[in-house]
Amino acid sequence: MTETNIFGIESAVDETERTQRHGHVGGVLWFTGLSASGKSTLALALERRLFSEGFNVYVLDGDNMRQGLNSDLGFLPADRVENIRRVGEVAALMADAGMICISAFISPYRADRAVARKAARGKFHEVFIKADLATCEARDPKGLYEKARLGEIADFTGVSAPYEPPETPDLVVTTDAADIESCVDALFDYVKAHFRTLEAAVSK
Ligand code: ADX
Repeated sequence: MTETNIFGIESAVDETERTQRHGHVGGVLWFTGLSASGKSTLALALERRLFSEGFNVYVLDGDNMRQGLNSDLGFLPADRVENIRRVGEVAALMADAGMICISAFISPYRADRAVARKAARGKFHEVFIKADLATCEARDPKGLYEKARLGEIADFTGVSAPYEPPETPDLVVTTDAADIESCVDALFDYVKAHFRTLEAAVSK
């Protein structure tokens, strides 16, 4: 529904002030990948590393969000669209507030990721957490692939629902070819290169 009689307000704090306070610009690191590709593991490890290095960072994770804000949504295409739309808006607000928001959702549809990118208005970094389906299935930490193969879970990504890999991701982290530590190193280097600003460095 398109709202009428709604008027946006401008924040009294501008982006430069927030950047100076945080010591870095805000933005969204949007992880996408199959279930068990390593999104949550890497998101949490990167959050720890960034926090320890003085960045203001927070993780939004699929399994957690689906217990709260998105507890009314399932895994049919329309539900996934709405899941990602809401998360995209929340991540954009966190970026606007000056935080680094790491989002860890399968987000299987390119069109939905494009919606999330648009919401973040230029502060969106798509990170492909890449692992073969066979690798993810062999890991199967929650036993979900096995259940999906047995027909006990419907619409399971990679088995009975599609996954559309990014065509031009900002960063690819291949988790079946490197250990967690080197993946986190690559992510951390990316953040250092893209989120620190000269003005922030000067003001600190
Ligand atoms: S998304 O497709 O809408 O982006 P999201 O990342 O929020 O998915 O949730 C994925 C998590 O939900 C998986 O890690 C898994 O634990 C759980 N899950 C339960 N059912 C499914 C399903 N049918 N397909 C994919 N993941 C599922």
